[in-house]
Amino acid sequence: MTIDRFQTEADLSAALAARVLETIVTRPRTVLGLPTGRTPLGLYRELRERSGGDRIDWSQVRTFNLDEFAGLGPAHPASYRSFMQAELFDHVSLVPEHIGFLNGTAPDLVAECRQYDDAIARAGGIDLQVLGIGANGHIGFNEPADGLRAETHVAVLTRPTREANAHRFDHDWAQVPERALSMGMATILGAREIILIATGQEKAAAVQGMIEGLITTRLPASLLQVHPSVTVMVDREAWPR
Ligand code: F6R
Repeated sequence: MTIDRFQTEADLSAALAARVLETIVTRPRTVLGLPTGRTPLGLYRELRERSGGDRIDWSQVRTFNLDEFAGLGPAHPASYRSFMQAELFDHVSLVPEHIGFLNGTAPDLVAECRQYDDAIARAGGIDLQVLGIGANGHIGFNEPADGLRAETHVAVLTRPTREANAHRFDHDWAQVPERALSMGMATILGAREIILIATGQEKAAAVQGMIEGLITTRLPASLLQVHPSVTVMVDREAWPR
């Protein structure tokens, strides 16, 4: 694991955006894996600003998002798809057919998950996967447990994770769906390169466990230790050294 520590969240976002855009410019057919959440907001702001006016050609880029709430369709205002449209997709020259997204209202959620892994494989796999991390060490919606799922699957969300998402549901955690569709650990670890971003003091314990702790399904991000190309980008609060 390589650790890049930044003075501020803004510095981190600018450096990551530069790295993502450099990847796209040098390899226009890049396949990106993308997260939602508060942590990547600065990244998406930078990507919007730096790509504006067709300065960066996204037309051959493919994207696959990590997860989506079960029961929410793409147009639902609290869906992760809506988040991505507003934060990135509506502002860059991505081709809609190149956007891979789990559909939380698919009639057969298990089949939806299987088809998602197939679509990632058909695209040639993920070149660069960007990840956030939950305060409990989850990545995607792979929550701490005795065992983790390898493939994309329907996940049961823990109460802390539902609480962390309450801001998208009138600040009422009980309205947050109990289940979500998520890339599994093998799907994530199959990416050629992974960049995990973490900011804020509330992530410090999870970040320390991920970097220095034993590999354990009780802290899913610790499994990243087995991947040959992981960069952890942190601010001072998340990695106070
Ligand atoms: C979201 C996702 C989650 C988040 C994590 C951190 O697509 O996969 O694992 O990355 O919950 O969320 P924030 O950035 O809101 O703290």
